[in-house]
Amino acid sequence: VALRSAIRAGRLRAGTRLPSTRDLAHDLEVSRGVVVNAYEQLLAEGFLVARHGDGTRVAPLALPEMGRPASPARRVSVPPSAPVPAERFPVGETLTYDLRPGAPDLSAFPRELWLSALRQALRTLPNSALDYPDPAGAVELRTELAGYLGRVRAAHADPDRIVVTHGVAQGLFIVIRLLAAEGGRRIAIEDPTSPRQLPLLRAAGAELIRIPVDAEGLDVAALAGTGARAVLVTPAHQYPTGVVLSPRRRAALIAWARDVDGIVIEDDYDAEFRYDREPVGCLQGVEPGQVVLAGSVSKSLAPGLRLGWVVAPPWLAARVRDFRADTDLGSAVIEQHALVHLIASGGYDRRLRVMRRIYRTRRDALVAALRVHLPGASVRGVSAGLHLYVELPAGVAEEAVVAAAADRGLVVAPAAPMWSGGPARPALVLGYSRLGPSRLSEAAELLGQVIIRGDSG
Ligand SMILES: Cc1ncc(COP(=O)(O)O)c(C=O)c1O
Repeated sequence: VALRSAIRAGRLRAGTRLPSTRDLAHDLEVSRGVVVNAYEQLLAEGFLVARHGDGTRVAPLALPEMGRPASPARRVSVPPSAPVPAERFPVGETLTYDLRPGAPDLSAFPRELWLSALRQALRTLPNSALDYPDPAGAVELRTELAGYLGRVRAAHADPDRIVVTHGVAQGLFIVIRLLAAEGGRRIAIEDPTSPRQLPLLRAAGAELIRIPVDAEGLDVAALAGTGARAVLVTPAHQYPTGVVLSPRRRAALIAWARDVDGIVIEDDYDAEFRYDREPVGCLQGVEPGQVVLAGSVSKSLAPGLRLGWVVAPPWLAARVRDFRADTDLGSAVIEQHALVHLIASGGYDRRLRVMRRIYRTRRDALVAALRVHLPGASVRGVSAGLHLYVELPAGVAEEAVVAAAADRGLVVAPAAPMWSGGPARPALVLGYSRLGPSRLSEAAELLGQVIIRGDSG
């Protein structure tokens, strides 16, 4: 029933490949027979088509067009860019215990899978595809992403709403630059937030307004009082606290956006990794006219690919595309087509399933070890993503802990730079993606020694 209504509503687009009956049965924790029966029923009703060697896909259907009329493009004025602060930690250095947040396990990058996807792209691409590309991204990738995001994130995505970008970062930069150039310089952001994003948001011309985050996520009432008409949020898994935007706050945020005819920019940076249940669908699927969804393969594959997307209302997607045409002539073609093959073959889904299991085990191991070695600390947020937000016992000096840990080869991020006025309690943000369970236990023990015993030697 859920599949049928998703196809009818256009969330599952024609041509979208569905998971195998075995994989779906595993994900839903039902017997395979249940899924086989459901697929057969939908095949019989004409909602699905199955071809040998190509799996089961959503059948072509006439779907209603949505969206608002495109308004004429305007010239964008370019404010001077802000200086980029130095990286906090050296890039590429090997550390004993690397608990920096922000990246997946790079040693698990599926090199063979990517190589065969690249090969397939090179074998099949016509010469003409190697010319300057469509600045919105290859239509094949936008089509595949529309299907994927509809299926996995309940997004309302079609190829005309999607622009392929160099990661979430470029998507945020361009969208905010365009809004700022039209007089919408006041951009609300979460407090706390990712400090890495602040320079790029400022460089885009934004005047940033910090909105508190509590146990339910962004404080929408506080947002409404600011006069801002655009807000950047991480609703599926707030960065860094790990809170999920509550159902009533989601409703309030959508109501706010409709009320002020505003734009919600939804940073969906790690939504594929939810371990205890299915992630809540994206906000964009609820109100595609007011929400821009930004995502990338930075957490699912590797940040070094610099491959992401925005899904925007058609009028804004057209302007983002024009901005790419005017400024950098689009994204690298061969990698875009490699991603097409990876998603279409089911390899991307399989990869996510494997990594979800691995990261869940790592998260559980770190949480368990912190309970033993750092009993005064509390772990915040839901079971998701690639990092933990850990509040330390009151009175502990965050910076001193970070420095003492670094002396012992353990690199962790302090929470203070993520808050506009500092955190209420000292805290650390621990990325657990790179280390196996036993190394994470050792790291927790070391952290316990540093904090409880003040042992920095
Ligand atoms: C909250 C958040 N959003 C976005 C990004 C950037 O993602 P991308 O590599 O897709 O530009 C990061 C990177 O760590 C992040 O932590």
